[in-house]
Amino acid sequence: FERTFIAIKPDGVNRGLVGEIICRFERKGFKLVGIKILHPTKAQAEEHYADLSTKPFFAGLCNYFSSGAVVAMVWEGKGVVKTGRTLIGATNPAESTPGTIRGDLCIEVGRNIIHGSDSTDSAKAEITLWFKDSEVAEYQGNQTWVYEK
Ligand code: GTP
Ligand code: MG
Repeated sequence: FERTFIAIKPDGVNRGLVGEIICRFERKGFKLVGIKILHPTKAQAEEHYADLSTKPFFAGLCNYFSSGAVVAMVWEGKGVVKTGRTLIGATNPAESTPGTIRGDLCIEVGRNIIHGSDSTDSAKAEITLWFKDSEVAEYQGNQTWVYEK
């Protein structure tokens, strides 16, 4: 199955939303195959968000992402990149639908608590950036009860 990179940003960690966010992916049926907590350096934040380097908010974004501990995760499942983004909700929480993570749990675009890869290609690149192969676990999980076959 497909994998995606999900990160709970420093505001999400410091607000105590780690369990809530993991719960939403877990109960959907996705499988957690990698997880760690780390305090990103500014350079790591800049590399992670390199595609946004020309944006006016880039410096603020990198300061925000490197301002505290982040919970970095790899989630696996059918369509997890796209469906993960649906669970997360729109970039600007003012426009995120209630019921989504951002729609329920945050207010400002610059403090939107969670990151999710936006394509299978960026998921691959981000997983490689944040995780060694040995930090991603293969295990059975409950997939026979989640999928038709
Ligand atoms: P990520 O999952 O974090 O990558 O968000 P996204 O894919 O929904 O949006 P995008 O990649 O375009 O932007 C990355 C992050 O930059 C967003 O999650 C916001 O935290 C921040 N950001 C995006 N647009 C703005 C903006 O207009 N103003 C500010 N202050 N921050 C922004
Ligand atoms: Mg993005």
